[in-house]
Amino acid sequence: MRQTVILRVNPEEPEIDKIRVAADAIRRGGLVAFPTETVYGLGADALSQKAVAQIYTAKKRPLDNPIIVHVASREEVCKLSESIPERANRLIDNFWPGPLTLVLKASKTVPRATTGGLDTVAIRMPSHTVALALIRESKVPIAAPSANLSGRPSPTTAEHVRQDLGGRIDVILDAGPTMVGVESTVLDLTVDPPQVLRPGGVPYEELGKILGRIELHPVAIADRRISVAQVRSPGMKHRHYAPRAQLMIVEGSLEAIIPKVQELTTRFLKKGKKVGILATDESESHYSADVVKSLGSRNDLATTARNLFRLLREFDTEKVDIIIAEGIATEGLGLAVMNRLRKASSFNTVRAD
Ligand code: TXA
Ligand code: MG
Repeated sequence: MRQTVILRVNPEEPEIDKIRVAADAIRRGGLVAFPTETVYGLGADALSQKAVAQIYTAKKRPLDNPIIVHVASREEVCKLSESIPERANRLIDNFWPGPLTLVLKASKTVPRATTGGLDTVAIRMPSHTVALALIRESKVPIAAPSANLSGRPSPTTAEHVRQDLGGRIDVILDAGPTMVGVESTVLDLTVDPPQVLRPGGVPYEELGKILGRIELHPVAIADRRISVAQVRSPGMKHRHYAPRAQLMIVEGSLEAIIPKVQELTTRFLKKGKKVGILATDESESHYSADVVKSLGSRNDLATTARNLFRLLREFDTEKVDIIIAEGIATEGLGLAVMNRLRKASSFNTVRAD
């Protein structure tokens, strides 16, 4: 067991003494959980094989799943990557700092632990003031996956991090809940056309406006199981968040979804199951079940993204047997939400038209 120090920091103007405590831990090869605009990350010195190796142990993460490197300046990208294509510069101009991760050819300075043994490296510049301050004070790029135990929903609060990793890491910087709520978009620039490997905080449509032709990898859509041959990054093949409860998604028009969800709920309640419904503001009042929670309004997909992981954790805490989730639009941030839900359900979708 390690002693985990939890430091509350001001999200807009982080106290430099607290940032220094965390940065010292990074420089000594330790582990620091810190807020980004997407989710909390579990950081270590990205250039130290030994430090990054500890991330895998603390998270119980499979060793071949590569980790995103977080930077605070463009110069750091030049050191981490062999060549920066012109397309990368355009994306950096438009979306950094922010929730966009670029996969580029890795330089020799990036240890194997960080790349998961691939010849590419995933890099992003987060926009959260605390994250940027930590990277700058540490004076090294920071490798950071989401700060959850492998297989749990990503943490959007410091309390989620404490639940999963308390006693396993050195420092947690607590700056309150994160804004975006789903992880960054991962875009592979080593292929032509560039491919979205994971939908996230920067919508696919926005990338298209800058780049023209891009593709969505089938894993990003996640509407069906894909074969191992289609896997582009080892991370794709690993089991993702799966709730304790069975999760099913009902997709279709809202008019068709509501009676279908209630019909399924009644059926499971009759079997003596504890049923949770993941509804939306527009439908919430139509349901009766053991637990009904709303993701937010269908007209405000950013809010649904912000709430998603917290609500999935809450269903786990309430120990429901079955979660019936409404499908939402796969536009904008909705695609990231549906990707997480579909994976969590193991592609268990019911059509409701
Ligand atoms: O928003 C985020 O991206 C958060 C915050 C902490 O920055 N981080 C995050 O990291 O979600 P993680 O490890 O949970 O997810 C990283 C994703 C995985 O799907 C991994 O397979 C992919 O990025 N990835 C990392 N390096 C890659 C590479 N070289 N090639 C392809 N995919 C890569
Ligand atoms: Mg993760």
